Amino acid sequence: MNPLTEQTRASMAEIIHRYPHKRSAIMPILHLAQSVQDEITPEGIAMVAEVLDLTTAEVNAVATFYTMYKRSPVGKHHIGICTNTLCALLGGDAVYDAVSERLGAGHNQTDVDGTFWLERIECQAACTHAPVMTVDWEFMDCQTPASAVEVIDRLARGEMVVSTRGPAIRDFQATEHTLAFPDDGLAGEGGEADAIMLAGLTVANQRGMSAPPATAQGA
Ligand code: FES
Repeated sequence: MNPLTEQTRASMAEIIHRYPHKRSAIMPILHLAQSVQDEITPEGIAMVAEVLDLTTAEVNAVATFYTMYKRSPVGKHHIGICTNTLCALLGGDAVYDAVSERLGAGHNQTDVDGTFWLERIECQAACTHAPVMTVDWEFMDCQTPASAVEVIDRLARGEMVVSTRGPAIRDFQATEHTLAFPDDGLAGEGGEADAIMLAGLTVANQRGMSAPPATAQGA
């Protein structure tokens, strides 16, 4: 496991400067620690608490509440498969079962060599393209059991896999770094919103509908 270094501490300080209150930086700072160590360790908890002037109990409370923070090593790739309502109706459980069988891993487990972490995930607000799989939190839309297993096979062979609406897949640690420092230069990669994603807006435009103007809070 990589150690947390003085460079990690300096990067944490950089994140803290974005916020008016130190403690507001806790979530990106935890992602930064996870990008270095592949999980949230006691060492990570201690450093985050120190730089934010919090207790380790306060940091633990956040790190154990949100499921994106892991307490054991994730490995090279995080695989999420949505089995929430719409994805389940359109085959999400079959996708999950096929990938689980391929990896020999269940929910929140890694495969035998620790390369892939498998997780049933909740709705990703991508129901228009259900069933959805995520690889290191990049979308793979409209999956079938066969297409999902093919993605795993290609990643296992070290081949390039490109998200169906985003950049080429990197790895879990790189994504965790993006969650700490969002300006990764990749925002323009991938396709634009398609007709299915824009269906509601299209209908609203056809009917001359628009949202009421926003008002200032408290006005
Ligand atoms: S139910 Fe799977 S993305 Fe919404």
